[in-house]
Amino acid sequence: MNWEILLAPYRQAVNELKVKLKGMRSQFEHESQHSPIEFVTGRVKPIRSIMEKANRKNIPSNQIENEIQDIAGLRVVCQFVGDIYSVVDMLKHRNDFNIIEEKDYITRKKESGYRSYHVIIEYPVETIHGEKKLTAEIQIRTLAMNFWATNEHSLNYKYSGQIPRNIESRLRRAAEAAFQLDEEMSKIRSEIQEAQRIFKKKQDTN
Ligand code: GTP
Ligand code: MG
Repeated sequence: MNWEILLAPYRQAVNELKVKLKGMRSQFEHESQHSPIEFVTGRVKPIRSIMEKANRKNIPSNQIENEIQDIAGLRVVCQFVGDIYSVVDMLKHRNDFNIIEEKDYITRKKESGYRSYHVIIEYPVETIHGEKKLTAEIQIRTLAMNFWATNEHSLNYKYSGQIPRNIESRLRRAAEAAFQLDEEMSKIRSEIQEAQRIFKKKQDTN
């Protein structure tokens, strides 16, 4: 299998989608509105992880592109839970890709404690051979959800997916704490946003 040829359109898609999603953030800034997007990251799944996932899920190599939805992965990180739904709504109204699946791990968190909103899209990239429609995953989450997920991911890596029981239960408590943090911040959201507006005005006049 020639990985570089297979992955090239995915690299292009990730780059294009990063520009587009970051562009949404700058537009909010230019219009002096609260941006529901704090930051955006993107990556192409490393070859080893693609192979490992194909192995784990018994996916034959000719089905990798059909079966693995997160070869191209984007992450949109928000301040508030409400912002996540604003972002999802904006994504639904775009004309440059189609949403083919939504996974709401916010109202239904995972067993691990993981929370995020996932949107699977079908995205057309222009290649030298014409248009190619590929699948990409956009994860939308708050800063608190992101903090939890990145730490849990590191631990999973360290323990090869076999996190010890006591650490697992601490992680579930940490997930609960992250949930509470999101709840509390949402309650004082308007106060925070007013403060941020005042601060920004002060900066702009300096
Ligand atoms: P994989 O979990 O990647 O095998 O894919 P899936 O087809 O089961 O989809 P799912 O929606 O469960 O997960 C997609 C992605 O969400 C993963 O690749 C991770 O980036 C993220 N994710 C899902 N569950 C967890 C979790 O428990 N902890 C962390 N840190 N991330 C998770
Ligand atoms: Mg999974």
